[in-house]
Amino acid sequence: MSPQAEFHDRMLSLGLARVAEQAALASAKLVGRGDEKAADQAAVNAMREQLNMLDIAGVVVIGEGERDEAPMLYIGEEVGTGSGPGVDIALDPLEGTTLTAKDMPNALTVIAMGPRGSMLHAPDTYMDKLAIGPGYEDGVVSLDMSPAERVRALAAAKGCDASDITVCILERPRHEDMIAEVRSTGAAIRLITDGDVAGVMHCAEADVTGIDMYMGQGGAPEGVLAAAALKCMGGQIFTRLVFRNDDERARAAKAGITDLDRIYSRDEMVTQDVIFAATGVTGGTLVPGIKREPGWVETTTLLMRSKTGSVRRMTYRTPV
Ligand code: FBP
Repeated sequence: MSPQAEFHDRMLSLGLARVAEQAALASAKLVGRGDEKAADQAAVNAMREQLNMLDIAGVVVIGEGERDEAPMLYIGEEVGTGSGPGVDIALDPLEGTTLTAKDMPNALTVIAMGPRGSMLHAPDTYMDKLAIGPGYEDGVVSLDMSPAERVRALAAAKGCDASDITVCILERPRHEDMIAEVRSTGAAIRLITDGDVAGVMHCAEADVTGIDMYMGQGGAPEGVLAAAALKCMGGQIFTRLVFRNDDERARAAKAGITDLDRIYSRDEMVTQDVIFAATGVTGGTLVPGIKREPGWVETTTLLMRSKTGSVRRMTYRTPV
């Protein structure tokens, strides 16, 4: 087969689940050991090794960084056996390195795959993000609204009071004003210390997680991964790149981005159907974390296809 071969997402999705699983398994022994770098490295190595077994002609479009700063899974790295469909890959082998090192909830291994050109080549900068779950009219909230306006608009659409809304926000000094403004509406805030891919994904299962909306600035690569997840689970996400200096603007230019102020919707970041897999490393509301017992280890992987909206939770147990 050649890179022109069709992207058979049904079969490839099972391979993708294995990639996410193996990355999680590799970091299992490093959960709670206080060593973020070792946990990340273990996940990176395993993810790369597994990806290279897949019959794809893959290119990493969201990865560990630019080639000169990341020896593995860097942006532009070709992965797979080369004999299969040409695909773009967005990945974060360990989303929540600190969460893993400290054994705090919601660390995941994350990977999305789609046909060539299906995902925004986001530079390694920050990104303003606003996300809600499925079932709302398009554009019911927007990045141009103030945080309080977003809460009130969502409450009106949900048919509840602002005080019934829960917003997830990364706990950072840069979000102090946003947090105060959201609180002034009476809404609740679930502060997270890391892991905004999971933060956004929580909106898609509000009945289970209790989170109605995600807002705030986090990594741009994580924004694309979150958009891929919501494309499968349903829900809206709007983003805008944030630049702190000329170096970051240059990174955007290198990634082919010309309109630096553009607001992206979910389907502008992920323009074609994708598959998405995430394995729990530490326990969370979306998926359980790795379970280690004498003699065996168990993982749970969320495997999704946007074409069908199918969401699988796959448990994998293996002897150790
Ligand atoms: P790592 O997995 O690289 O540790 O990143 C975790 C994370 O919390 C992301 O989920 C989030 O987008 C980003 O870091 C936020 O960046 P910062 O810590 O600089 O605020």
